[in-house]
Amino acid sequence: MTTAAPAKRLFVLSFGCQMNVYDGELMASAFRRAGYEAAKEPADADVILVNTCAVREHAEEKVFSHLGELRRHKQRGALLGVTGCMAERMGKEIARRAPYVDLVAGARSFGDILDLAAAARDGLGPVISVGHDRPPPARDVSVRTDPYRAYVAVSRGCDHHCTFCIVPATRGREKGRPMAELVDEVRALVADGVVEVTLLGQNIDSYGKDRPEGEDLHHLLRACHDVPGLKRLRFVTSHPADMAEELFDDMATLPRLCGALHIPPQSGSNAVLKRMARGYTRERYLEIVREFRRHCPEGEVAADFIVGFPGETEEDFEGSLSLVREVLFQQSFVFRYSPRPGTPSAERFEDDVPEAAKAARNLRLLKAQEAVATAKHAAMVGRTYEVLVEGRSKKDPDVLMGRTRGNFIVHFRGGPDLAGHLVDVRITGHSPVTLRGEIRG
Ligand code: SAM
Ligand code: F3S
Repeated sequence: MTTAAPAKRLFVLSFGCQMNVYDGELMASAFRRAGYEAAKEPADADVILVNTCAVREHAEEKVFSHLGELRRHKQRGALLGVTGCMAERMGKEIARRAPYVDLVAGARSFGDILDLAAAARDGLGPVISVGHDRPPPARDVSVRTDPYRAYVAVSRGCDHHCTFCIVPATRGREKGRPMAELVDEVRALVADGVVEVTLLGQNIDSYGKDRPEGEDLHHLLRACHDVPGLKRLRFVTSHPADMAEELFDDMATLPRLCGALHIPPQSGSNAVLKRMARGYTRERYLEIVREFRRHCPEGEVAADFIVGFPGETEEDFEGSLSLVREVLFQQSFVFRYSPRPGTPSAERFEDDVPEAAKAARNLRLLKAQEAVATAKHAAMVGRTYEVLVEGRSKKDPDVLMGRTRGNFIVHFRGGPDLAGHLVDVRITGHSPVTLRGEIRG
């Protein structure tokens, strides 16, 4: 009697943005078609891919320490690869600093990941592929990191040139996917149990600019919204210079489209926004938020800020602080400016805000956001919200965790069979980070 050889296993460790999570799933799809299964941890894997981010230097340095840690798995024959934006940006430099790495595939080359892995296995390593525009692997919708929620990338790359940002260099020019293909992907995900889809783009509002007439975000949202069985639809990330206000009508009228905007201001100072080449002012940003709230009074807005951009004075920084207090963001992601080689800001401006000042501003902005979140949470107590149950809470298996349409995290008691369902939860208490509640009978 012959027994089949055990299937090979893949482990993907993704850092950075949601697009990387999605790309990790595409690479896992390619390996699945080649007979691989998902490994639960690197120790069980035959192939380990570290899918990286290049947005800040700190993120890149962390990857090198992870690689140093993962290197030991090579002793038992595992293949170790680096993919994503840092791979695209650094290429050979990664193989120089971590010569034990078998393959480096950039954010635009991972469509060839199986061939690259095979070449590395054949001892041709380190195999390096950057600077090529290869279509990504086709998606196998059953390969997912979450049973109920999924991302769908509507485009790749970005045509903006925010002076601090490495993404246009690593991911290339914006290229939209055909709308019919996107709607089919949503349909296939829903047929496989997904109830919430988040459409992804570096700058999602410009979806369609390289597509035929009638293929734009407005039409795409309507088409995806109508897929039977889909319970919630979201989209990220919006750019204030491209935000089309007709989308606010969609958010106000399409019942499954969540009224949640992730629209990074980056700074509340017009002088800094100008040096960032963001293409809008603080006043315009506030006007967009006002218009959004006029259409969706219950809508929530989330932000990204960079602190310590070159030349940012205390007064400039206070502009960001006051923006947090004026807009009342649901959430703010705060990044310390990191000059990225080759970007306009790194070439033109001196990184002149000391690290200690960046750290202090980071903390102050987060504290301001925490105060805003705490007040928002307190105002929600006693009210009832629609919550999508994501599963058990990490801390307490008897407690469920879910999210409101506005992206607030809520904990409440209930059976695990509710996972993937929408329930009405009355808010009974809160902390700065989460809400507590009880299911309404
Ligand atoms: N449009 C993109 C998106 O989809 O979120 C933004 C790209 S970037 C991956 C995410 C955030 O990283 C940006 O909004 C910005 O706040 C931050 N970021 C980008 N470049 C940075 C840099 N050089 N230093 C610090 N933060 C940076
Ligand atoms: Fe980066 Fe600005 Fe595009 S932040 S991804 S260049 S919109």
